[in-house]
Amino acid sequence: MPTSRTTALARLGALLETPAETGDGFLDLLGAANQAGPPTGLTQRLMRTTLLPQIYERYWRPALGRALKGPFGPSMAGEVRLATEFLRPRPGDTVLDVACGTGRFTRAFGAAVGPDGLAIGLDGARTMLTKAVAEGGPDTLAYLRADAVRLPLKESTVDGVCCFAALHMFAEPETALDSFARVLKPEGRIVLLTTARRGRQPARLLESAGGIVSGQRMFDRGEIAASLRARGFTGITERYAGVTQIVAGRLG
Ligand SMILES: C[S@@+](CC[C@H](N)C(=O)[O-])C[C@H]1O[C@@H](n2cnc3c(N)ncnc32)[C@H](O)[C@@H]1O
Repeated sequence: MPTSRTTALARLGALLETPAETGDGFLDLLGAANQAGPPTGLTQRLMRTTLLPQIYERYWRPALGRALKGPFGPSMAGEVRLATEFLRPRPGDTVLDVACGTGRFTRAFGAAVGPDGLAIGLDGARTMLTKAVAEGGPDTLAYLRADAVRLPLKESTVDGVCCFAALHMFAEPETALDSFARVLKPEGRIVLLTTARRGRQPARLLESAGGIVSGQRMFDRGEIAASLRARGFTGITERYAGVTQIVAGRLG
């Protein structure tokens, strides 16, 4: 492993509450466990397979994202741009990409924080992180295998938290939001992309059924914004496209 990448892992290690094993280019707090937290269904299981990470970034995520966002939702490049604009990473910042998958967003944050910053990609799937490491990117990247619901980072350690396309597959999304707020520094920024079912029947019924089959929770419009407000976030913005929402805010 290049020395610069080892340095980024050491910097990440210093932010953790407990020491982590060094795996194949990432730190690992889950050891032999197959996945983080209790299983939540089909979609989460697919993420752990060997095949999906290989096709995830190029085919799976853009296609599924388009189906869920509809024709007028942002492209993948647009999502990365929006996430970066909402987080506004400055040189030297530490940004945490929760449920980073193969690291598409993490790499963009790594470039934005500059050589003195740190972009942490956290995921529960070994196969996803192996692919993320293989993708390369700036020396400021450090990957961590851990549970997104109970973040293992010390309190008030990161300047920004991004969690795209994952909150709806966590067993306890509200606990995850508590955890996101805990690790953010005062005035730290958050940006989330998750599900948003419509209020009217029969669309609501169909969307709820789709969520049950795929093992993904369907949040209501406004629900995530209210959850963030309840945790002390301010300046909240919401954008809706298809059955998705992007919600962003600042702590305090
Ligand atoms: C659909 S992918 C999203 C990847 C990336 N954020 C994106 O927008 O393309 C969801 C990711 O969440 C991860 N994941 C699901 N539940 C998790 C948990 N409890 N802890 C950590 N990662 C989890 C999966 O392994 C998967 O890589």
